[in-house]
Amino acid sequence: MNKPPQSDRQVPQLVQGMKPFLAMEILEKAKELEAKGRHIIHLEIGEPDLETPACVREACIRALTDRRSQYTHSLGLLELREEICREYKARYNVDVTPNRVLVTSGTSPAMLLAFSVLCHPDDEVILSDPHYPCYPNFIRYVGARIRTVPVREEEGFQYSLGAVKEGLGEKTRAIVVNSPANPTGTVIPAETLKGLTELGPCVVSDEIYHGLVYEGETHSALEYAQDVFVLNGFSKLYAMTGWRLGYVIAPEPFMRSLQTLQQNFFISANSFVQWAALTALREARQEVEEMCEIYNERRSVLVAGLRKLGFGIEVEPTGAFYVLANAKKFCSDSLLFAFEILEHAGVGTTPGIDFGPNAEGYIRFTYANSRENIEEALERIRVFLESR
Ligand SMILES: Cc1ncc(COP(=O)(O)O)c(C=O)c1O
Repeated sequence: MNKPPQSDRQVPQLVQGMKPFLAMEILEKAKELEAKGRHIIHLEIGEPDLETPACVREACIRALTDRRSQYTHSLGLLELREEICREYKARYNVDVTPNRVLVTSGTSPAMLLAFSVLCHPDDEVILSDPHYPCYPNFIRYVGARIRTVPVREEEGFQYSLGAVKEGLGEKTRAIVVNSPANPTGTVIPAETLKGLTELGPCVVSDEIYHGLVYEGETHSALEYAQDVFVLNGFSKLYAMTGWRLGYVIAPEPFMRSLQTLQQNFFISANSFVQWAALTALREARQEVEEMCEIYNERRSVLVAGLRKLGFGIEVEPTGAFYVLANAKKFCSDSLLFAFEILEHAGVGTTPGIDFGPNAEGYIRFTYANSRENIEEALERIRVFLESR
């Protein structure tokens, strides 16, 4: 029997419409150049270069040796969920009970489940422009629509409450907040976050970069309202990207549905990684502080270096490990420019257009790379710009 031909047309429209992640396209091109012998400095990928704390690695090995490698409760280990609640109490003085926490294999699955239980077909979700590029894909995947609210460079790319209010409609179901933010590295002011929770739609607060702040402080949406969804995970703060662990803290009435989805789609998050994450929360404070000091030093080097080269950084980024630099004086097409920087300077960066039309003309640099590499990258970009 002849099999029908495999073609793109067999892939549903919903999936075909999904845009590729341009940071990955740059990375793939960079790998091609590396395969040909070029030396590339990677400032495009939002992944800590630092090692996962030793106590976390050891806890994982212990869990495996002790054969703690079976399915866990679908919501996640009770001990871990209790520790997450303690963490939110200690950091933000908020009371969360473990029955409101669902542990997932990364923040990304938490996001998928959260939008799944929250959005009805044709509901609208408000996103800032620029935003983390995967958000629209999750939202469209569950049948909802995007409404973007442009945010301004001179306001640190943060929402203005007035602009969000103007964007509200009958169908607005949720407002996504990400602070410290990818791609801008800026932090939302407390009063703006509070104001967003008072507008009506549910706030979905992606707090994955919490803890990575170098000036001022971060606030959790849970400080201002209980009926919010908080997304968080271990990838960034604990340098655990490949371990795949995250969680969602949700309002009580959604928990049963979240749990049902988790049971059906994923059963539970990885058990030994959950034990390791418990140790991360309990014992890795010192290592995390040291990592923050390292990032902070690199941040100063990168911000000062980019400004010297002529990139615009109006509001200094104070969190995460990103700088979204204004490159309009050098380019109007950020994708082309990022490829040019890669080809001619041997430095990987992410084009602003990856994060929304409002970030066209900008380039995102990450400082999740060594100080030496950052300095070398800046020098290479200087030479490239001068020769251009
Ligand atoms: C804002 C934001 N949220 C979520 C994620 C995904 O995190 P995880 O590795 O936990 O799936 C990322 C990864 O870059 C991110 O930047």
